Amino acid sequence: MADVPLLTQASVALAQAKRIVCLTGAGISAESGVATFRAAQSGLWARFDPQRLASQAGFAADPGLVWRWYMARLASVEAAVPNPGHLALVALERVAPAFTLVTQNVDDLHERAGSRQLWHVHGQISQFHCNRCHAPHALQPDERTHAEPPICRSCGGHIRPGVVWFGEGLPSVALDAAWRAAEACEVMLVVGTSGVVYPVAELPQVAQAAGAVVIDVNPQHNPIAARADFFLQGAAEVVLPQVIEQMRAQGQ
Ligand code: OAD
Repeated sequence: MADVPLLTQASVALAQAKRIVCLTGAGISAESGVATFRAAQSGLWARFDPQRLASQAGFAADPGLVWRWYMARLASVEAAVPNPGHLALVALERVAPAFTLVTQNVDDLHERAGSRQLWHVHGQISQFHCNRCHAPHALQPDERTHAEPPICRSCGGHIRPGVVWFGEGLPSVALDAAWRAAEACEVMLVVGTSGVVYPVAELPQVAQAAGAVVIDVNPQHNPIAARADFFLQGAAEVVLPQVIEQMRAQGQ
């Protein structure tokens, strides 16, 4: 459990803030059964090679392998349900005068929990487009079980999931919005990210440099926790509901 006085202080900062940004990573969806990337045994990148599965070179070498892997991941995301951590962020959005959620997650658990003001900076696994001409593609039920990716009707290229792969740029509209929100916020709440994937890992520093208080919620120490004003050590699904409870107790 997170240190109680720290949790109280962090809750006061959140309750007093007019503009809050929350940055989430894979850790917030862990309790829902969506695998994180860097956990030693269970992390996706501990078990699978990201260069083969999440890069242009890997897709060119074996498009079928990549397609089948993302179809399996999509099925596991669709089977997952939002946990108390996702729900606590919905509660925070409802009481905060201005709230922006920036997620690195490609799942839709924030949306399904009820979050409204949300930017996906690493894309979304349930959206598809052509890898060559970028035309959007609506996934057909039978394509989920295909051994190879569907073919684009416009140009004959391969259809791919709308997630950002290693070496690719981030969606510029979402990234710009995240940057502007970070520069303008009074509190940045960081949840469940290892803080090693750039440029998103820079957002807490951007906020802090502009005068914001940074709160990190994570069971593990990490580079963001090292710089944060408050490190609430613990799982999101435990700590975030406690934060909301504290805010309510303070009259929010
Ligand atoms: P990581 O797998 O790198 O980190 C997950 C973090 O969640 C770790 O710091 C864990 O300690 C923490 N964690 C685990 N369980 C938790 C829980 N119940 N509550 C809170 N935190 C918990 O995932 P990300 O930081 O999200 O990129 O990874 C960043 C990017 O790297 C991902 O978006 C992905 C990956 O390559 C793309 O898909 C483009």
